Amino acid sequence: MPVSTQRRYNLPRSPNERINVSVNVSFINMKGGVGKTSLAMQAAIYAAWNEKRVLAIDLDPQSNLSQALLGPSEYVKLLKASKPTVVQLLEDYQPASFGAPGPQPVTIQDVIIKNVWSKNLCLHLLPCRLELSRVLRNPAGKERKLAKALAKVASDYDLVIIDCAPTESVLTDIAYFASGYVVVPVKPEFLAAIGLPLLARSLETFRRENDDHVINMAGVVFNHGDYQPGPEAKLSVREVRTLAKEHGWPIFANEVPHSKAIPKSAREASAIEHTSYARSGIKQAIVGFSAELFQKVGV
Ligand SMILES: Nc1ncnc2c1ncn2[C@@H]1O[C@H](COP(=O)(O)OP(=O)(O)OP(=O)(O)O)[C@@H](O)[C@H]1O
Ligand SMILES: [Mg+2]
Repeated sequence: MPVSTQRRYNLPRSPNERINVSVNVSFINMKGGVGKTSLAMQAAIYAAWNEKRVLAIDLDPQSNLSQALLGPSEYVKLLKASKPTVVQLLEDYQPASFGAPGPQPVTIQDVIIKNVWSKNLCLHLLPCRLELSRVLRNPAGKERKLAKALAKVASDYDLVIIDCAPTESVLTDIAYFASGYVVVPVKPEFLAAIGLPLLARSLETFRRENDDHVINMAGVVFNHGDYQPGPEAKLSVREVRTLAKEHGWPIFANEVPHSKAIPKSAREASAIEHTSYARSGIKQAIVGFSAELFQKVGV
């Protein structure tokens, strides 16, 4: 909510605003291709359009969020220029490069790319590159690095959105330590429910081992990525609902339908809401999901 509106109507501020730190939300599912990146990107853009200060973090070596938000040519420029990414942040240094004959220190401010999507919106990106998979081979001591770095910019953002990789690894712990909430996109299809017990176990273990860290489940959101959902999808929705109930996870009232506008808008780094080609159904679904998410997490 814009501050001016809040003042005019004397509305209470949300608890997160009161303590003036960002709300950090990870998009996670141990299953791949379910819409984590697509929904994370749309939610980040929607929040920025609604006057929120947003930091999008790419924590997947595939780097799809970075490619989508920067666009392919800017992303290639970033790689060629050896600019620091989340990899250097987790490794605590930048290697020798042109202009720097030895290793250099790196801060989160060095890594963040500002105003990635539009000069008029506060949407910043902590980009990623494939070398993040190096961290998987040498994970010791990396778990809290992102959380520590984010603490330094916590008052600069209202919302931090983290796009996670589809497998459990140290990257999952890095995301948990850096988040207050998780959102679970699910594509209703054969074996859709399989990632959820893994996620439940991983969250449970994390909470048990880190009882000083509160991490909340914002909920499961159905993303109907298939063009023609069949009986398998209906069965899968039932299975996922049952599992979510067993774990006490809420389900988002807003579901995202199949739409060709989702891949198209990702290619163009567009907000679905502002494209001419997206139909009103998908626009409403993205706005509905994003608004429901922000209401749940108190942004
Ligand atoms: N509702 C939808 N309608 C049509 N296509 C979709 C929809 N949601 C996602 N897609 C497409 O499905 C593919 C997978 O989506 P996305 O990359 O967001 O999933 P992901 O969970 O991030 O995958 P990964 O686990 O590989 O990171 C992409 O090509 C995306 O454009
Ligand atoms: Mg992804």
